[in-house]
Amino acid sequence: MQILHLDSSISGAASISRILSSNIVKRLVALHPGSTVIYRDLARDPALHLSSEHLAAWQGAGAKDSLLTEDLFKGSAYLEELQESQIVVIGTPMYNLTIPTPLKAWIDRIALVGKTFHYTAKGPEGLLKNKQAYIASSRGGMYSPGNPAAPLEHQESYLIGLLGFLGIKHPTVIRAEGLAISAQVKDAAINQALEDIAAIHA
Ligand SMILES: Cc1cc2nc3c(=O)[nH]c(=O)nc-3n(C[C@H](O)[C@H](O)[C@H](O)COP(=O)(O)O)c2cc1C
Repeated sequence: MQILHLDSSISGAASISRILSSNIVKRLVALHPGSTVIYRDLARDPALHLSSEHLAAWQGAGAKDSLLTEDLFKGSAYLEELQESQIVVIGTPMYNLTIPTPLKAWIDRIALVGKTFHYTAKGPEGLLKNKQAYIASSRGGMYSPGNPAAPLEHQESYLIGLLGFLGIKHPTVIRAEGLAISAQVKDAAINQALEDIAAIHA
């Protein structure tokens, strides 16, 4: 079993999504002894935003400098790591109602027509089959169904939609929300999320 573990919070050791994602990975390794874990800290070492130079390189123009060459290698590695993993664990805070930009930059390198999805007469079809995903989600406010801000939730819903588009259906979401409301709400949300992780079964 290969597990791809991604983090995207800028908060380092204080990050709740990082605590949750690492606990999910620990739980999965306990359930699947001998698993290999590939780790990417997307906040610390992000891919570049896509540019016209990336497009030109993909179209055969080659890379114009070593920065772009290294970045193109990074994108290829992202794709290979995802294709070769059976499980992907994504740590994501909500930033401005959606996912952090380094995670979007990762998505821009792995959502590739002909590689991870293609178009058919019946519409787009995901090419990533037989994979599981876990989303470790953290956010300051409350956006889960029933909350007044629920219509503004473009973080988990975007990731779930994107993963499904690529063929990874029904990801498991482990969520700690309301973290900025009070210490009590924060502690309860984290404890609940840790209980949800302990309840993950193979
Ligand atoms: C740049 C930035 C933007 C944020 N935007 C939102 C937001 O739109 N909604 C929200 O509920 N919390 C927002 N927050 C709060 C974070 O989601 C919250 O602190 C969360 O715990 C961060 O995850 P982390 O602990 O893994 O770093 C934002 C935080 C930062 C740093």
